[in-house]
Amino acid sequence: VQPKTSIILFGATGDLAKRKLYPSIYSLFLSGKLSDNFVVIGAARRPWSDAELRENVKKAIEETHLSNERIDEFCQHFFYLPFDVTNTESYLKLKHKLEELEAKFEIPGNRIYYMAMAPQFFGTIAIQLKKEGVTQSEGWNRLVIEKPFGHDLPSAQKLNNEIREAFSEDQIYRIDHYLGKEMVQNIEVIRFANAIFEPLWNNRHISNIQITSSEVLGVEDRGGYYETSGALRDMVQNHLLQMVLLLSMDPPIRLATNEVRSEKIKVLRAIRPISTDEASDYFIRGQYAAGEISGSEVPGYRQEKNVKEDSTTETFVAGKLLIDNHRWAGVPFYVRTGKRMAVKSTKIVVQFKDLPLNVYTQKSEDMTIHPNLLVIHIQPDEGITLILNGKKVGLLGETIPVDLEFKNNSIDGVNTPEAYERLIYDCMLGDATNFAHWDEVNLSWALIDPISKAWAESNEEIEQYVSGTMGPKSSEQLLSNDGFKWWALKDL
Ligand code: BG6
Repeated sequence: VQPKTSIILFGATGDLAKRKLYPSIYSLFLSGKLSDNFVVIGAARRPWSDAELRENVKKAIEETHLSNERIDEFCQHFFYLPFDVTNTESYLKLKHKLEELEAKFEIPGNRIYYMAMAPQFFGTIAIQLKKEGVTQSEGWNRLVIEKPFGHDLPSAQKLNNEIREAFSEDQIYRIDHYLGKEMVQNIEVIRFANAIFEPLWNNRHISNIQITSSEVLGVEDRGGYYETSGALRDMVQNHLLQMVLLLSMDPPIRLATNEVRSEKIKVLRAIRPISTDEASDYFIRGQYAAGEISGSEVPGYRQEKNVKEDSTTETFVAGKLLIDNHRWAGVPFYVRTGKRMAVKSTKIVVQFKDLPLNVYTQKSEDMTIHPNLLVIHIQPDEGITLILNGKKVGLLGETIPVDLEFKNNSIDGVNTPEAYERLIYDCMLGDATNFAHWDEVNLSWALIDPISKAWAESNEEIEQYVSGTMGPKSSEQLLSNDGFKWWALKDL
């Protein structure tokens, strides 16, 4: 299917557009997913011309792509509109520009408004688009909205009310780029296309689930944003929670957007709320101190640009979620994420319960049996490992862990535009399954807010961890209190 679409990109001169969006649209073009009937209108404050935008698009693609095949032909679909979000004139100009280009490129009024800019303008733009009649086209109109979707529950509600004035829920596509990752999408397939896992996928057989998303980079030049966010809002409220939902939801009755969403929402409602008073029993935080990454010295978080010298913003979070339903009662879901950690890696470890009896101690008293683990490698390597026990070669009959491994041969799952490529295409096709519904956003902020509040009110010094390590000590403590440990990612 080749949807005929106009994409109006607010924030066309920004970082996201350059790093992810232009390369993704180009990949869609090269793979034949776009017909000739598409245009991209870049809208931003700078007084660029079409030629300047095209130059920048070209540069962005050359930096991220191996090929620049048909690049000039591709760039002919790009147009620039200097845009002031608070000025009515800008919206009228946009409307005329759209009508003119739709006539020229034979596009039946299908429009995607993509918000890739400062979030304080999301609401204003949506409201103005409707008010000035831009969204009254012949075809469909959809709004793609980047994170952060609010800062807490009240601000998310306010933003949602604003965009809902102009767009209905089924026209809104809230991006969580983790939902576009190959192996995140594979979680459902592993669970629901295999007969062997579903019977075991519950508290009778699983002891705990661990989700880690670690990064090596620091905050780079995003200190200003990060100071208002921190790892809990930046990663846990969205990406990590979404993975928890995909792992824990019941099988949907069919793969329709609303069916999958309603299963996710149902399990999200079953996650035990954590009050501000008990937050420290469930979530711990840390901040990176100076250290060494790949042999080079790196500064601590408080020394980064646009970060306060006495900042208490967390760059690491580890937490425990409990799901109060029949399937999961008693099974902790541990999540952890941080910057300046030892490796860039996202992995899920499903740990099965120990055997009721270890008969191998009859061979040797200290013969422990390794728990069975199902490891889902999200990035950078993509694949699945099932860790079983086999017989150690030799005369003693000892056991040894053995791996059943499947690796996807994709080049590199980290930070590649592929996630965006899928999500942009889904939006063109009108498939919102891999986007967050308002109820998911609403409930996830409600879960997260008491924890942020506890940290904002706390007088305790934030625990530091040395850059290049796997986080502060209290992260280990969180699991050892329950008799577990984080599985070392490098061993999986
Ligand atoms: C973004 C966060 O949503 O996800 C960043 O704002 C983070 O802080 C990024 O670095 C991680 O994404 P990925 O795809 O590199 O794991």
